[in-house]
Amino acid sequence: MAKLNVNICGIEFRNPVMPAAGPPVRDGDMAKAAAAGGAGGIVTKTVSVVPADVPRPCMAEVRGGFLNAELWSELPKEQWIEHEYRKARETGLPVIIGLGYTAEQISELAKLVKPYADAMELSTHYVGNDISPITDALKAAKDVVDVPVFVKLSPHSNIQEIALAVEEAGADGLVMINSFGPCFGIDVETGFPYMGSKEGYGWLSGPAIKPLALRCVFDAARAVKIPIFGVGGITTGRDAVEMLMAGASAVQVCTAAILQGPKVYGKIVRELDEFLDSHGYSCVEDIKGLAIKKASERVLRTYPKVPVVDHEKCKLCSICETSCPYQAISRTDKLEIDAERCFGCGLCVTRCQHKALSIPI
Ligand SMILES: Cc1cc2nc3c(=O)[nH]c(=O)nc-3n(C[C@H](O)[C@H](O)[C@H](O)COP(=O)(O)O)c2cc1C
Repeated sequence: MAKLNVNICGIEFRNPVMPAAGPPVRDGDMAKAAAAGGAGGIVTKTVSVVPADVPRPCMAEVRGGFLNAELWSELPKEQWIEHEYRKARETGLPVIIGLGYTAEQISELAKLVKPYADAMELSTHYVGNDISPITDALKAAKDVVDVPVFVKLSPHSNIQEIALAVEEAGADGLVMINSFGPCFGIDVETGFPYMGSKEGYGWLSGPAIKPLALRCVFDAARAVKIPIFGVGGITTGRDAVEMLMAGASAVQVCTAAILQGPKVYGKIVRELDEFLDSHGYSCVEDIKGLAIKKASERVLRTYPKVPVVDHEKCKLCSICETSCPYQAISRTDKLEIDAERCFGCGLCVTRCQHKALSIPI
């Protein structure tokens, strides 16, 4: 069995899979359920100085993803301080306390939650696109606490610039990404937007944003030295592997835990473990940032390499044949790829459910 524990900023996590701020950690009892479900640490729902006035409806499953308009915790900070954080601490797992948003608010909140926090996570979701409100909030937290302070970033195209500025301002780690938006969806039966927010806007999460999250983590990990918690669309052990290979030190899960319940953390951990074992890796650290190394080794190639077929694994399901845009794949009693027609696009390799196709290295 591979070594699954990770140490981030001196905090020991039994495994690198934990909840992301959201409904699956909306109070202390949910934190306990996350721990029982196999999470390696606890991250609590973002709390601000006043409870959120959440529009309803505020959640919808959409194809490939999920929309939400949930804001931050609808519970008052007093309830968190008097009850919920204590319960979260009873899990015995490291507790990362989610706070938002402005420097003034963080300064007030960080003092109050300090006794319960192994680390803090500052959400930057509602502070705009400028860097200074983010770094001001970070400095406000650092002024009052001595535990690690992580900054949670929304997706941005200039994520390297933001990540570097946040690192320079003293962040101990990054959490990325928050949900992406604004987005929109309509219930065609009624014509109403799914989300009950003022404009009907919602923020996208789940598998649809995984490539965006991976790109953000990959970019940030190449720019900064501080650890990164990768978040966005993680549902399986292989998703977690991808995020770790992109440069994350650990992962967080929200949408999959909403849709599948808290057991999903343990499922992801088991699948991660199986992946590491079956590929000869001895610990999580072995795969961290692997894609950064590999991407830097890749030589630009503009000629095709025809995929190799493993006929033992091929089930002749013809999924690859149907979607080959170059009509290069055919099957008789076995699969054949026409080298003259094959463009080397690689689509068939990613579509094969049986891992019967591979591009020669
Ligand atoms: C219903 C819902 C509520 C959320 N609430 C918060 C929150 O309070 N604070 C925060 O930083 N992120 C919040 N998020 C964002 C998630 O923590 C996470 O960054 C995002 O959903 C991407 O991860 P996922 O694809 O695993 O859901 C919320 C997401 C959802 C779906």
